[in-house]
Amino acid sequence: MRGDIFDLSGKVAVVTGGAQGLGLAMGQALANAGANLVIMDINLEKAEVEAEKTKAEYGVDTLALQADVRIPNEVQDVVDKVVGHFGKIDIFVNNAGICKNIKAEDMTLEEWQEVIDINLTGVFIGCQVAGRQMIKQGGGSIINIASMSGSIVNVPQPQCSYNASKAGVMHLTKSLASEWAMHNIRVNSISPGYMETAMTAKTLKTDQARDYWLYMTPMHRPGQPHELGGAVVYLASDASSFMTGADLIIDGGYTVW
Ligand SMILES: NC(=O)c1ccc[n+]([C@@H]2O[C@H](COP(=O)([O-])OP(=O)(O)OC[C@H]3O[C@@H](n4cnc5c(N)ncnc54)[C@H](O)[C@@H]3O)[C@@H](O)[C@H]2O)c1
Repeated sequence: MRGDIFDLSGKVAVVTGGAQGLGLAMGQALANAGANLVIMDINLEKAEVEAEKTKAEYGVDTLALQADVRIPNEVQDVVDKVVGHFGKIDIFVNNAGICKNIKAEDMTLEEWQEVIDINLTGVFIGCQVAGRQMIKQGGGSIINIASMSGSIVNVPQPQCSYNASKAGVMHLTKSLASEWAMHNIRVNSISPGYMETAMTAKTLKTDQARDYWLYMTPMHRPGQPHELGGAVVYLASDASSFMTGADLIIDGGYTVW
C-alpha cells in the first residue's frame, strides 16, 4: 500500500477542552497531520487565540466554538456549526475533564456529581452528538481521553470520583465501539499517566510528586502534552483502521509497576 496512512488532509477534527493542555497539544498534532481543527471549550477567549495560532502555524482551517460538555444543546450547536462550515465531522476527541482531590468520607454529592457530569456524562454527550452525525455521513473516529486512573488507583491523593469517571469512560468507549462498528465509526480511548499541564502543575512542584508520582513512574518524569500527538493521529487516521474499543495507555510505564 502506498501513501501516508497517517495523513489527515481534508479531515475535520473537533477537540473538546481544546484550548489548553492535552487537548490543545492533540489538536495541534491533528492539524500538523493536515486536519482542519475545531477547538471547542468552555473558555471561548482562549479557544479563539489558539485557533488563530494553529491556523497560522499549520495552514489549516480552524474554528473556535464555546460549549459546556455537560449541556447537550450547546454541544449539538457546535456540531451543527461545524457541519454548516465544513460539511462533516471526521474526528471527535472528547478531552474536557476535571479532577477533585477530596476524601471519599468528606465528599458532598454535588462535588461527586460535578466530576461525573463533566468527565463521564460529558463524554457520553459528545459521543452521542458526534455519533449521530457520523452515522448520517457514513463513519468517523471518536477518541475519548480516559486516564491511567481508570485502571489503577493513584496515590497518595484521594480522587475516587475521578478514578470512577475514567473507568466509566473506558467501558463506555468499548460499549460504543460495539454498537457503532456497523456504522463504520471507530471508538477508542487514550489513557495518559501524569502529564505536565495546568491540572498537575502545582503538585508536580511538590515532594508528593517526587516521592510518589515520579518515583512510581519507570521513566521518572511527567509526560509532556505533545507526547500524546502520535497516539491521537494514529487513532484518528487510517493507520488504525482495524482498531476499535481499545485503550492506549501512555504513562511512562506507571501501570507496569
Ligand atoms: N494532566 C494529566 O496528568 C492527565 C492525566 C490523565 C488524563 N488527563 C485527562 O486529560 C484531559 C485534559 O486534561 P488537562 O491536563 O489538559 O486539563 P486542563 O485543565 O489543562 O485543560 C482542560 C480544558 O478543558 C476545558 N473544560 C473544563 N471543563 C469544561 C467543560 N465543562 N466544558 C468544556 N470545556 C471544559 C478547560 O477550559 C480547559 O481548556 C482531561 O480529561 C483529564 O482528565 C490528564
